[in-house]
Amino acid sequence: MQAYRGRLLHFLADPGLETPADNSYEWFEDGLLVVEEGRVKVVGSADELIGSLPEGTPVEHWPEHVILPGFIDTHVHLPQLGVIGSYGAQLLDWLETYTFPAEMRFAETDWAKSQAHRFLDQLLRHGTTAGLVFCTSHPQSVDALFEAAEARGQAITAGKVMMDRHAPEGLCDEAESSYRDCQALIDRWHHHGRLQYAVTPRFAPTSTPRQLELAGKLVADNPGVLMQTHWAENKAEIAWVSELFPDRADYLDVYAHYGLLNDRAVLAHGIHINDGDRQRLAETGARIAFCPTSNTFLGSGLFDLRSAHQAGVTLSLATDVGGGTSLSLLKTMAEAYKVCQLREQALTPFQAFYLATLGNAKALHRDDEIGNFAPGKVADFVLLDTDATPMLSLKQHSTRLRDRLFDLMILGDDRVIQRTYIAGQCRFDRDADRVSETG
Ligand code: GUN
Ligand code: ZN
Repeated sequence: MQAYRGRLLHFLADPGLETPADNSYEWFEDGLLVVEEGRVKVVGSADELIGSLPEGTPVEHWPEHVILPGFIDTHVHLPQLGVIGSYGAQLLDWLETYTFPAEMRFAETDWAKSQAHRFLDQLLRHGTTAGLVFCTSHPQSVDALFEAAEARGQAITAGKVMMDRHAPEGLCDEAESSYRDCQALIDRWHHHGRLQYAVTPRFAPTSTPRQLELAGKLVADNPGVLMQTHWAENKAEIAWVSELFPDRADYLDVYAHYGLLNDRAVLAHGIHINDGDRQRLAETGARIAFCPTSNTFLGSGLFDLRSAHQAGVTLSLATDVGGGTSLSLLKTMAEAYKVCQLREQALTPFQAFYLATLGNAKALHRDDEIGNFAPGKVADFVLLDTDATPMLSLKQHSTRLRDRLFDLMILGDDRVIQRTYIAGQCRFDRDADRVSETG
C-alpha cells in the first residue's frame, strides 16, 4: 500500500457548461489517494483518512501539487510526431505533402518500434496515461505500439489504418487483405491486458465502398472493439465525400450506411455539421473527439461545443497530433477555451478538466477502469506542479478553485507534469527525467 497526499481533484459526473453541480466533482485542499496493488483503495481528505492507514504505510506528501487522474487523449496519431507543426497547408494538402510521406516509413519494423517507444514516452511526459491512437496502414505499426504499451502497462486503444485508395502506393492496403490483417490484430491484441482494438478506416475518401463494408463487418463481428475515423473536418474534404458517395445523403450517412455508426464510434472533428447530424449522433451514441489545436492550426474551423453538448452528443477532447500542435491536454484545453470564445461560448475549467479525464474515459468506454479515483479503478494519475514555470508563479493565484484550475489550463503545458503514474507505478518523473523500465 502507498498513499499520496496533496491537493486533489477528480470528477464524478459531467459538470455541465455552466456553474458545476457540487456533486459533479471532489476537491480536497489536503487530500489523500491510497493505492493498493495498482488500484485506488480510497480517496478523501487527508485529515479523515490518514489515521486509518495501516502502520508503516508510506505517504508521499506534495502539499503544493495537484493530484489528478491521468489525462486521456481520444485522438492522436503515432506516426505523426515528425510532422507536427508543418507549415502552410490545410487538410488535404497537408496529408499529401507531409503526412503520407511520414507514414510510409512505418513499413520498416525497426522504425515503427523505435517511434512507438518515443511516442509513449512523450505521452507520459505530457501526463497522458491512456489514449485512442491511429497507427499506420502497416500491421507492424500496431504490433509495435501495443508491445510498447504493454511494457508500460498503459491503457491504449489503437488500430491499423484502413485505406485502399487516394493515397501513395506504399500506404494503400487492399480491402480483403486489410480486413484479414485487422482481424488477426484483433485476435492478437484486443482485451490483451489493458489493450483494446479500434477498427480504423482513415476517413471515407481513402476507403472504397468494399473496404468500408468490411470495416463494418469487423465492428459487427468483434464485440467491444471501438471504431475511429475522421469526419467533417474541412470543407474541401466534405465536398470530395459527396462526389465519391453520390448515393448517400451526407457524410455521416456514409459511415451509418456501412454499419460504422454506433456508441463505440469516435469521430474526430465534426466541425461542419448541422442539427440533424447532432441528433443522429445523440441517437446512435457515436462520439465526437474535439481537437482544437488541430482545428485552428489546419484552419479547419471552430467546433460548436455548446450545440453538441445541448443535443446530448457524447464529447471528448483530443490532441490530434500531428495536425494538432501539442500532446499536452492542458494546452488542448486552452485552445478549446479560445475556440469557444470565438463562438461566444464559455468553456469552464471544470468542463475542460472533466473532458480530459472522466469524460474522455467515458468516450472510450473505459470509465469502469480509469477517469477518476473511484475505489477499484486503476491508479493512473499525475502530479501537477502549479508553480512549474515563472509565469505560473507570477500569476496572482486566486483562492477560487475555478481560477486556479484556469491558470493551469491556460498557462500550463508539459512542464507542469511533475510525475506520471501508471497502475500506481511512477513512469515519468520530471526531476529524474524519464523513469521507464522499457528504455
Ligand atoms: N483526415 C484524414 N486523415 C487525417 C489525419 O491524419 N489527420 C487529420 N487531422 N485529419 C485527417
Ligand atoms: Zn486525426
